[in-house]
Amino acid sequence: MRRSFVLPLLFFALVALPLGLNAAPPVFEVDHEFYPYYPSLVKWNKSSAEFTDPATCGACHPRQYEEWTGSVHSLAFQDPVYQGELNKGFQEMGPNLTRQCEGCHTPIGVVTGEVTGPGLTGLSPLALAGVSCDVCHSISGTTHTRTPSRQPQNASMILTPGYETLEGTVLVKRGPSTPVENCGGGFHECVESPLHLRADLCASCHQVYHYDRHFPLEATYNEWKAGPYAQNSILCQDCHMVGIDVFMRAAEDFRKPERGEYRHFFNGANYLLYSLVQGAALRAGDEAFADNVREKYNMAVARLMAAAELEVTPVYRNGDLAEVKVRVVNVRAGHNLPTSLTNVRQLWLELTAKDENGRVLMTSGSPDARGKLPEDTRMFNSEGMGDDFHFAIDPWVVTAFSRHDTIPPRGYREVYYGLSAPEGVENITVEATLRYRQADQAVAEAVLGMAPDDMDLMAIYGLEEVPLLPILDIADKEETFSVRR
Ligand code: HEC
Ligand code: HEC
Ligand code: HEC
Ligand code: HEC
Ligand code: HEC
Repeated sequence: MRRSFVLPLLFFALVALPLGLNAAPPVFEVDHEFYPYYPSLVKWNKSSAEFTDPATCGACHPRQYEEWTGSVHSLAFQDPVYQGELNKGFQEMGPNLTRQCEGCHTPIGVVTGEVTGPGLTGLSPLALAGVSCDVCHSISGTTHTRTPSRQPQNASMILTPGYETLEGTVLVKRGPSTPVENCGGGFHECVESPLHLRADLCASCHQVYHYDRHFPLEATYNEWKAGPYAQNSILCQDCHMVGIDVFMRAAEDFRKPERGEYRHFFNGANYLLYSLVQGAALRAGDEAFADNVREKYNMAVARLMAAAELEVTPVYRNGDLAEVKVRVVNVRAGHNLPTSLTNVRQLWLELTAKDENGRVLMTSGSPDARGKLPEDTRMFNSEGMGDDFHFAIDPWVVTAFSRHDTIPPRGYREVYYGLSAPEGVENITVEATLRYRQADQAVAEAVLGMAPDDMDLMAIYGLEEVPLLPILDIADKEETFSVRR
């Protein structure tokens, strides 16, 4: 009896423990053989079929080329904000971190081995082109269920630009339609791809997870999938690959765009990047490009301005005004508002309460002359923290959110401001403004200050120093109410 108990225990202590046989499998298992570019999860079906630069595609597809040019996808690698943060990551962690970034910001540059760190010098137009035509139209599949998180993350897609035959190399481009006669004009074959009519195509890159801990830093696809737009088959493409009018229809009435209405704008919210690039185009004397980007700037502003609405209501206690309630409603974003870099983007309420003589009784959320927001500003974003539970912003450090207050699609958040009227005041007017900017002023200054040496921000963008970041007022509401009910 006794012996039969001791033996297994001995086995456990002497053999199993040291061998790790009792250890549970890790939650986030990485198949390094399957993912040769880890920490990027991009895959390449390598053959003699090469990738094509966008200008070559543009010769036969001029409309798509014109629309894509100047889009955030076309700028994804050259974006000075990206290059600044990439450079910081490279200096702190080296290329085994930054390959993860590059796998989404210039996937072709990663699989061909051309891009191995920050900077633009000496790179081919194809590597510089970021998320270019041949990235998306070579995607032959995804590996979403085999990733360490078992979700789409960190470029979990397969690139197959073509294949080899006995006669030579054939290029294959995948698109939404059944191939027409002579599809590809002798340059490429066409394959009808149901994936291109699904949000899964975008999911691989619009789910940014911590490079090795697999914590979801940005989860736009999952936010969308858990909301009403997914349930009504309104995809990323239906809001971001169309003009403003078509987007409004899709967002308001769940009305699917017609096939001929899709455009390659990939337009979201990043008006700061468009305004920087427009300045660079003007400095370089390229009026046409400046006009192109100005249009995209206007579209981004229009999308943001359509995203939210405000309601302001008084709260009385024992007949006296005690609080003001402000409800912020996400009316037209297909995912949370804000989404993606929620711990960097800033969305907040500025509030002013005045009496009937215009005397200011209270303010909240007003930035100072240097663009700094007061501590008690009501923010709708998130705050990241590292393993030490301290505030952090760099994506290789953040492994959790200490706060996450974004607004779900067709959902709302409410905040309360304590407010009691001074003696003699009868009516109070409250103005609430929902304001947005790409980042905190100090964060933007730090990131742009890290731009790699071969990116002269003065020469390219005319930036002697980082200007006050432009703030966009998304929604505004003014209500007057009595101090007693
Ligand atoms: C899974 C794909 C993916 C990976 C991996 C990734 N990014 Fe991004 N990145 C994106 C997407 C998508 C956006 C746009 C989100 C938005 O606009 O809020 C973005 C935006 C950014 C921005 C903001 C740019 C701007 O103009 O405001 C910076 C900076 C950035 N990424 C840096 C990095 C760095 C550094 C890494 C690696 C540590 C990295 N990214 C890894 C997909 C990725
Ligand atoms: C981010 C991914 C992405 C990039 C980058 C991209 N496309 Fe597309 N493209 C799509 C999707 C998705 C569709 C299908 C849209 C739909 O009809 O639903 C599409 C459709 C097309 C079509 C079919 C006709 C049409 O316009 O709908 C052509 C042709 C095309 N793309 C060419 C190009 C060219 C040329 C470029 C580069 C200048 C490019 N694409 C860049 C994703 C992309
Ligand atoms: C020699 C001219 C030529 C070049 C170069 C070319 N294409 Fe095409 N492509 C065509 C023609 C013609 C069609 C069929 C008609 C159409 O959709 O425009 C086509 C069709 C397509 C389709 C299918 C559209 C659908 O509705 O499903 C996609 C996707 C596509 N091309 C992408 C590309 C990409 C990406 C490149 C660059 C890597 C490229 N093409 C280069 C001529 C060309
Ligand atoms: C290969 C990776 C990749 C794929 C696939 C991809 N994206 Fe992106 N996307 C990015 C990156 C990286 C950025 C941000 C670049 C930056 O800010 O510098 C971005 C930016 C955007 C933006 C602009 C965001 C802003 O702040 O203005 C929109 C909109 C967008 N993507 C939509 C889509 C849609 C829709 C699809 C699917 C049809 C898609 N993307 C597929 C990588 C990708
Ligand atoms: C119903 C319309 C709608 C759908 C569907 C939708 N979006 Fe958006 N998206 C918006 C609006 C409006 C904004 C601007 C407000 C904001 O930043 O959330 C936006 C902003 C963005 C941004 C910019 C965020 C930033 O910080 O600059 C990205 C990236 C983006 N969307 C990607 C996607 C992807 C990927 C999908 C699909 C999984 C998607 N969107 C689905 C309407 C939509």
